[in-house]
Amino acid sequence: MKAIQRITLASPVLNGNERKYVLDCIDTGWISANGKYVTQFEEKFADFCGTEHAISCANGTVALHLPLLAYGVGEGDEIIIPTFTYIATANAIKYCGATPVLVDSENDSWNIDPYKIEEKITPKTKGIIVVHIYGHPVNMDPIMEIARKHNLFVIEDAAEAHGAEYKGKVVGSIGDVATFSFFGNKVISTGEGGMITTNNRDLAAKMRLLRGQAMDPNKRYWFNEIGYNYRMTNLQAAVGLGQLENIEWHLEQRRRVATQYIESLSQFNDLFTLQPEMSWAKHTYWMVSILLNDKVKASRDEMMSLLEADGIETRPLFYPMHQMPPYYEENANYPIADQVSSRGFNIPTNATLTNDEIDYICNRLVYHCQNNL
Ligand SMILES: Cc1ncc(COP(=O)(O)O)c(C=O)c1O
Repeated sequence: MKAIQRITLASPVLNGNERKYVLDCIDTGWISANGKYVTQFEEKFADFCGTEHAISCANGTVALHLPLLAYGVGEGDEIIIPTFTYIATANAIKYCGATPVLVDSENDSWNIDPYKIEEKITPKTKGIIVVHIYGHPVNMDPIMEIARKHNLFVIEDAAEAHGAEYKGKVVGSIGDVATFSFFGNKVISTGEGGMITTNNRDLAAKMRLLRGQAMDPNKRYWFNEIGYNYRMTNLQAAVGLGQLENIEWHLEQRRRVATQYIESLSQFNDLFTLQPEMSWAKHTYWMVSILLNDKVKASRDEMMSLLEADGIETRPLFYPMHQMPPYYEENANYPIADQVSSRGFNIPTNATLTNDEIDYICNRLVYHCQNNL
């Protein structure tokens, strides 16, 4: 069986009211940050997460920067994060002049290991950012317990995990604050965009202030502090609202795709393993991820090239922070993150993948692994 055209890793599906709402923005001239779609998108997203507040912003990176600023994080402070994440998590901390302190992954979910956090806490630690990696929720209970014990805030970086659930609770409503990305490859997208959810009214007000250059709400063009222009436009929110109205469909499609992969590939767990779904978790399957077993002699990159030649786009798992120049650690000891990163890659997880395409991907993957023992 041959793929007719390249199967992409991810692409947005804009099959709801997105077009209608965007045209409304254009027809009415409401294309900037003020406009009804911004408000509606925020209200509907807060409902979706079950939080009091949702604050839209320009992307998932500034969505992390804003709560750190609102908490007053600055020079000399330390924030605990998983080493196995996308670099935005660490960069947002650096933007504040603070230091990310890295923790290894747990073996099962590949998320931050809750039992390795406490040893990294110092008098300088102000908070923890957990990351629901590839859409699998973090084991939140032990982390919230540690945070309360040491008086730390918890930010959920849910950039990849819209709709994932931890013990029946949707992510974004478990930590003190949560952040989301709506980049084009995410479960739902606004092109570029971000959202912050919280139940903390004062924090929400502070983040809204900082998002809009910190202009005094009672005195136009008066600024008591330095703020940022981190706003989302009405055009982006129009797309976001259309996407959000259909989020159950998007989530169902991802689960359909992941289920077919799991059913076809689990029997080959001598060759590779899939990121598992823990018993307490509802994975959102932003990206289905494969980890090659040592028995497969081809490197991860060789395997990805073989699949590319078959017309199948893949993507390497993230490099852990401690391996890269901005966050390099000389005597790093993060064996799980190193192992997962060096042997893992994402396979196509589009909402529109057909059964035949998934079959084709599975066949080629198994074929190349068996040919490289
Ligand atoms: C874990 C994580 N955090 C933050 C971000 C940043 O989001 P954005 O690209 O919208 O700035 C991403 C983006 O993919 C991400 O994967």
